[in-house]
Amino acid sequence: MAIQAIQPREIKRAHRELVFRNALIFDGSSKPPFIGELALSGERIVAVGPSGTIPQEVGRSEQDLRGLALAPGFIDAHTHDDRIVLDEPAMLPKISQGVTTVVVGNCGISLAPVTFHGDPPPPMNLLGGADSYAFPSFAAYAEAVGHTAPAVNVAALVGHSALRLATMDDVGRKASNGEIDAMISYADEAMANGAIGFSTGLFYPPNAAADANEVARVAARFAERGGVYATHMRDEFDQVMESIDETLSTARHARIPLVISHHKCAGPRNWGRTRETLPHIEKAAAGQPVNFDVYPYDAGSTNLRFDLVSEEYRIMISWSRPHPEMIGRDLKDIAAEWNCDLKEAAQRLDPAGAIYFQMDEADVRRVMSSKLAMIGSDGLPHDAHPHPRLWGTFPRVIGRYARELSLFPMEVAINKMTGLPAQVFKLAGRGRLKAGFFADLVVFDPVRIIDKATYETPKKRSIGVMQVFVNGDLSFSEESGSTGRAGRLIGGGDSRTTI
Ligand code: ZN
Ligand code: CU
Repeated sequence: MAIQAIQPREIKRAHRELVFRNALIFDGSSKPPFIGELALSGERIVAVGPSGTIPQEVGRSEQDLRGLALAPGFIDAHTHDDRIVLDEPAMLPKISQGVTTVVVGNCGISLAPVTFHGDPPPPMNLLGGADSYAFPSFAAYAEAVGHTAPAVNVAALVGHSALRLATMDDVGRKASNGEIDAMISYADEAMANGAIGFSTGLFYPPNAAADANEVARVAARFAERGGVYATHMRDEFDQVMESIDETLSTARHARIPLVISHHKCAGPRNWGRTRETLPHIEKAAAGQPVNFDVYPYDAGSTNLRFDLVSEEYRIMISWSRPHPEMIGRDLKDIAAEWNCDLKEAAQRLDPAGAIYFQMDEADVRRVMSSKLAMIGSDGLPHDAHPHPRLWGTFPRVIGRYARELSLFPMEVAINKMTGLPAQVFKLAGRGRLKAGFFADLVVFDPVRIIDKATYETPKKRSIGVMQVFVNGDLSFSEESGSTGRAGRLIGGGDSRTTI
C-alpha cells in the first residue's frame, strides 16, 4: 500500500529532474554562446555552465543536445493575447515559436477592468465582443489566468482606454479630477493583484482625448507601485518626432520606465526618418529609462480605419463582419470588383481589420538593430486572416535577420527576446539561464529555425523550435505540438515573492 502511494510522486520527480548536455548555450545576455550543460529540478534551473560542470547522477534523465541551441524561453514584449490565453490556452501560435511569456494589455487595450453592454468600440473589439469583457477588476482577470493555466506565462499591463471606458461617461474629452482619481484606484487594485504596469493607445479614439497631464497623473501612480509604461503613441506618421517628445516628457513627469510600442515611421513620406527618431530616443535613454518593441515586418495591422485608407500603400483585409468572403484580399481589388473607390469599399467592409504595408524595410532593420529594441509580435490572435507576425516573429528574427542577413549576432537577437525584456518589465527570475531562475527554456536548431507564416498563408507554424519548457514543464515539442500548460501570471506582485 505504502509503495503504491509513493510511486506516482517519485516518477514525476524523476521526470522533472533533467540535465541537458553539449548544448550551444545562449544565456540571455548578449554574450556569445558556449558549449555547455544545464540542469533543472522542478520549476527551476539548478545549475548551468561549460561542459564538465554538472556531475552524472544516477536516476536523473539526460538529453544530449549536440548541434542544438538552448536559450531562455522567449518573452513576447508586445501582445494582444489577453483573451486567447483563456480561450485557447494551448497557445500554439506562440509556444511553437519558443515563446514562454506574453506581455498582454498593450496599446491601451486590456480585458480588465471594463465591461460593456453593447459592442465594445474599436480598438477594444480587437479582443472580442461584450461577452469577452467579463472582468470588472484586475483581480478577476488574474484569477481567470491562474485558474486556466495557459501554456505560457502572462505579464499584464492595464490599458488606459479600458480605464477611461470604465470610469467616464464620455471618452471624447479629457478626464475630470474625479475620473482620474477613479482610474488611480483601479491602478492600485491592479498593481496589488499582479499587474506589471500601464499602457496607452493615444492613437485610438477612446484614448485620444487624454492629454499628457492625464496620462502622467495615472502613470505616476503605476510608477509608485513599481509599474512600467508602454505606449502606442499619438502619431507614428508625420508627427512622429512630436509624439516621441510628448511620450518622453510624460514618462519623465510620471517618473516611470518607458516602452515605446512597435516603433516605426509610417507612411511613404516618413520613410527613412528612423535616422532622426532613433538617435533622439537613444540620447534620451541616457537620462531616463526608455526602450521600444518592434516586429520584424514592414506591414502593421489594426482595425480598418478610414483615416488609414490610402492609395499610397497596399492594404489587405484581415477580417470583416459584413463581408467575410473578402478576407485575405487587397482593398484595391475589392474596390475594383465593387466598382467604387477605396473609402467606399472600406465603409462597406466595416467593422473590419486590415494589414497596412506602410513601412520601409530599411527603417524596420534600423529599429531592430538598436540596443534599446526588444522583440514584440503585436500579433492579433482573433483575426480570421492575421498578420503573419502572430505565428512567425521570433523564428524570423533569429533565422532571417540574425542568421541569413547578419543584421546582428544570434546572441543579440536572443537578448532582445529574453534578458532585455525581462529586465525592462521587471520579470524577476526570468529571461536568463542562471541557477535559481525559472526553467523557461527553448531548445532550437540554429541552422534550421525560420518562420513559415506569410501574408498569403499566415497560420503556419515556424520550424526548428524543438522543445519548449515553461516553469520546468515540457510544454511543446516539434513532433507532438502542445504538451503542457504550466503558465501563470508573472511579474508585478509575483516578483516580490520569488527568489
Ligand atoms: Zn499598437
Ligand atoms: Cu499593439
